[in-house]
Amino acid sequence: MSQKNILITGGAGFIGSHVVRLFVNKYPEYKIINLDKLTYAGNLENIRDIESKPNYKFVKGDIQDKDFLVSLFESEKISHVIHLAAESHVDRSISGPMDFIMTNIVGTANLLEAARSSWKEGDHIFYHVSTDEVYGSLGDEGFFTEKTGYDPRSPYSASKASSDHLVRAYYHTYKLPVKLSNCSNNYGSHHFPEKLIPLMINNIKNNKPLPVYGKGENVRDRPWVEDHARAIDTIFHNGKIGESYNVGGWNEWTNIALVKFLCQIMDRKLNRQPGESEKLITYVTDRAGHDLRYAIDATKIKNELGWEPSIKFEEGLEKTVDWYLQNEKWVNDITSGEYQKYYAAHYNS
Ligand code: NAD
Ligand code: DAU
Repeated sequence: MSQKNILITGGAGFIGSHVVRLFVNKYPEYKIINLDKLTYAGNLENIRDIESKPNYKFVKGDIQDKDFLVSLFESEKISHVIHLAAESHVDRSISGPMDFIMTNIVGTANLLEAARSSWKEGDHIFYHVSTDEVYGSLGDEGFFTEKTGYDPRSPYSASKASSDHLVRAYYHTYKLPVKLSNCSNNYGSHHFPEKLIPLMINNIKNNKPLPVYGKGENVRDRPWVEDHARAIDTIFHNGKIGESYNVGGWNEWTNIALVKFLCQIMDRKLNRQPGESEKLITYVTDRAGHDLRYAIDATKIKNELGWEPSIKFEEGLEKTVDWYLQNEKWVNDITSGEYQKYYAAHYNS
């Protein structure tokens, strides 16, 4: 069997760091090349524990730079790609869509071109990691399946939908061996505190207002990030070329119910009176074009590949809260500088 030199993009981010850790530790025979631009969301502390492993290499670089990607494919003899690098925050895509278009669409096109020009024959996979937001918004009932039509509604989801279309186009047109997955809202350690769960944990801890958009009635499905990383491993190795797989937690929560649940956990952990943290909840102006509900039907990946969530949400959330309470320095470092400016502009405007 030929050597696998796997380029993982975005491996210093939230999900990417879990994927890199899993692959580096589980597959010492593979060489893992982690390519990341280290934007505000990328943090080498997320993968400090594996950085000295012999099968791991970090490369700082930008997927917007096609020439750089073409030479990287040649110099590292890249045979496989797991593509996670992206601008990922919906609110930032509303205030500034161009970074999303340049990284998520043009960056993905550059990677596809680098693979197309470098891969002539042999064992290759281009695995594109995408989101359930490409499907748009559900009403009170129903689920997104792999057959649901695309209906993206934010600049972020439209940029991810465009990248999914490009990946499929390279499969149909150039026979590039692609795989895709679309996952719902991950939670777990190393999640940047601009996203709902880590933001709320951090604000509860610091006695700051808990900004709930609109009435808090929007619904998100919540898979554990380590289960998502395991799904990516499963699809990478056993998924069919040219196919997509939906990944989810079978775990729907309204935002307000989730925030209240987090308040209860934090009251217990911080020895506060029951109900004390909930007093911090503040209803704020809704997100523009806020999708009401996302819910994933993950039957295909279960039936065809045997993947299903491994952990109950209550247990995963408890672990997540503990991780944030035990990693104060990580939180403090990441929430200084650029984050404070973003936070003030976003929540105080
Ligand atoms: P993240 O924002 O935490 O990490 C993104 C990483 O990409 C960062 O390390 C960043 O530095 C890097 N990056 C950004 N622009 C880059 C560029 N131009 N060149 C190279 N690197 C660049 O995001 P995440 O939440 O870990 O999401 C990872 C991927 O998974 C994204 O493609 C996202 O669309 C997808 N996804 C996320 C979720 C979720 O719940 N977070 C769910 C489904 C799919
Ligand atoms: O569904 C998958 C997607 O999940 C990923 O593709 C995205 O990259 C990821 O960021 C996430 O998108 P969301 O927009 O759903 O996540 P976010 O944490 O920003 O918001 C979750 C819900 O909480 C959403 O309904 C908006 C609401 N919210 C969010 C923030 C930051 C609030 O009520 N208050 C807040 O301060």
